[in-house]
Amino acid sequence: MPEFFASTAKGLSEVLEKELKEMGIPKTIRVSGGVFFEGNWETCYKVNLSSRVASRVLKPVQDFVAYQPEELYANIQKHDFTKYIDVHQTIKVEVVVKESKMHDQRFIAMKVKDAIVDQFRDKFGERPNVDNENPDLRIYVRCKKNKFEIAIDTTGESLFMRGYRREAGVAPLKENLAAGLLYLSEWDRQSPIIDPMCGSGTILVEAAMLAMNISPGTLRRHFGFMNLKGFNTEAWEKVLEEVVSAEKEDLDFKMHGSDLDRQMIRMAKENAKRAGVDHVIEFQSESIATYAPPCEKGLLVTNPPYGARIGDEDNLKDVYRDLGYTLKHRFKSWDAWILSGNKDLILDMKLKSTRRHFVFNGPLECRFLKYSMF
Ligand SMILES: C[S@@+](CC[C@H](N)C(=O)[O-])C[C@H]1O[C@@H](n2cnc3c(N)ncnc32)[C@H](O)[C@@H]1O
Repeated sequence: MPEFFASTAKGLSEVLEKELKEMGIPKTIRVSGGVFFEGNWETCYKVNLSSRVASRVLKPVQDFVAYQPEELYANIQKHDFTKYIDVHQTIKVEVVVKESKMHDQRFIAMKVKDAIVDQFRDKFGERPNVDNENPDLRIYVRCKKNKFEIAIDTTGESLFMRGYRREAGVAPLKENLAAGLLYLSEWDRQSPIIDPMCGSGTILVEAAMLAMNISPGTLRRHFGFMNLKGFNTEAWEKVLEEVVSAEKEDLDFKMHGSDLDRQMIRMAKENAKRAGVDHVIEFQSESIATYAPPCEKGLLVTNPPYGARIGDEDNLKDVYRDLGYTLKHRFKSWDAWILSGNKDLILDMKLKSTRRHFVFNGPLECRFLKYSMF
């Protein structure tokens, strides 16, 4: 069984695998929701700290087939969960179940929790409590066609929550999706990224962090693995020191962000400041209808509104028409990547895409399209 599993949004497994290889992890297996990888706990710390696209890192600990509650209980009992936390710490069991004889998530969670707490009771005469909000140990149970996969979480709060974004607009991108888009665009990391509809600035902040080699986890104080028995502080400090010493303090180019909404620009500036990258991003407030290149060369990556959450479709048609016009007439010889969850609005740009990826923004399937301007 591979030692760890990094999960990510659908559509980003391939770039996640590439990222893990770049981190020096040779053995990986890619599946639709993420990537299994081999490594020791130090590798796990590193992936939690440095991955830009992973949502969380799990450690698979068991897999077995069970049809009856007693079988489930007996199988869970075979693995020693007392080695991860002590009895005064807390647990939570999370379950996803599909096409199985036992199909009640809450019942399965209760059975797994009972099997675990009974191990503690038998050994120490006491049991750990459940904490649904902020547990020390999360246990993930996935069951499909009666095949159970049990994993412990090493991440805690999801990795896309970097900590720099305290405020956002109506439809912000998750931070790990923004980073995934930058990977998918094959940006060279040495030229400006511009986002003319930048909202709270997620794409630009992620681009700045990527170009400056700032690991997203350095903005966090806590990871799930820190709660586990055997957490190796020395190894963690070594990993942290290594990534921090590889960071750049500045860039010899600037990223550029713009948005029609001044409130958004205010938020984006604050978010960039919290991430420590405000000195490499220039912001302005302008409509896409009049927007012109703020620099000589670069890559345009943007996420226009697409109606599922903001605005109504008729007004948005004009926005997409303006975006198409601006690209065609003012961005000659530029490449642009557009993320949209609305394939009809995309047609209003009246441009032909040259490449296409499918990614998921939460439950919404989106197209990430490349346009090469001549
Ligand atoms: C989907 S949001 C972008 C979200 C952003 N990626 C983030 O993570 O926060 C689209 C943005 O386009 C902006 N917008 C809408 N119409 C515009 C226009 N005509 N010109 C420029 N920006 C516009 C909105 O104010 C909104 O912030």
